[in-house]
Amino acid sequence: MTSLPKPRGRLSEQVLAALADLPSTPVPAQPSAESEEDAALTLWILHELSYRGFADIDDRAERDPELFRLRCLLEDDLERRLRDRWPGRPEGAELGADFFDWVADHDGPSLARYVRADATETQVMDLLRVRSIYHLKEADPTSWVIPRLEAVPKAALVALQYDEYGVGDPARLHHELWARGMEASGLRPEYGAYVDEAPLEVLEQNNALSMFGLQRRLRAAALGHLAAFEATSSLPSRQLAQGLERLGFPAEMIGYYAEHVEADAVHEQLALREVCVPLAEAEPVLEPDVWFGAWSCLDLEARTARRLLDAWGVAA
Ligand SMILES: [Fe+2]
Ligand SMILES: [Fe+2]
Repeated sequence: MTSLPKPRGRLSEQVLAALADLPSTPVPAQPSAESEEDAALTLWILHELSYRGFADIDDRAERDPELFRLRCLLEDDLERRLRDRWPGRPEGAELGADFFDWVADHDGPSLARYVRADATETQVMDLLRVRSIYHLKEADPTSWVIPRLEAVPKAALVALQYDEYGVGDPARLHHELWARGMEASGLRPEYGAYVDEAPLEVLEQNNALSMFGLQRRLRAAALGHLAAFEATSSLPSRQLAQGLERLGFPAEMIGYYAEHVEADAVHEQLALREVCVPLAEAEPVLEPDVWFGAWSCLDLEARTARRLLDAWGVAA
């Protein structure tokens, strides 16, 4: 089980205190965070109560009404910010015909390209640590969406997730492949081990995914996010595998990325053509949110890339 992260301000401090002593320590009534990072970490902690929980924290915390209320307020704030940044559904674009070109046109700074040819071993270790926040629960946020779908998108999404979950073999589960890669690279493989190092942008990436997954209303955004995520994975995975090879990383870590070169070339087709398009055809009112989720995926990744490249002193 995950250990609790260190607080990053007043709000996360109060929530951690409340979690340790439910229900006697009051939960703050207003999300008056000290900083965006304080708010993002608090929301990350609250979301984790619905995933694997924390060692020493009562499982009933997940449905504490005051903690849930706080989660809703923080999610509303995150959603508002994402929607404010979103330029809106691309005019005249058709989901099935134009999505991949649209993704290609919105290519942000590429960490994978940098890793392939230029990154140092220390920089790659930085990257693996912050990526571990997601990869150790890879595919889980999207699984929340499954029971909310009709037959056609549901069957395709389950086929995709079945791959992510190792086609029935626990040793092939993508988050297990990742954990083995971390361990072989001399890094900690436990879930959430490096949350304390995650910058705001990485926390927000994870929070957006959880929020899209956990709210039925946002199911189309969750699936749009999935399609954009898969569509921007195959080529970067090849570049990352090449970079890791260049630096002499262990075969387990290279293997994780190598696995994604072919898998995600298939997943992007499934996610768009058999999940998002049928969903949008069945419920046209949801179509803009497919684009919104996809755009959020690309925007949050671009922010993370800029943050890391900045920290390494590399021009994006
Ligand atoms: Fe995967
Ligand atoms: Fe995938």
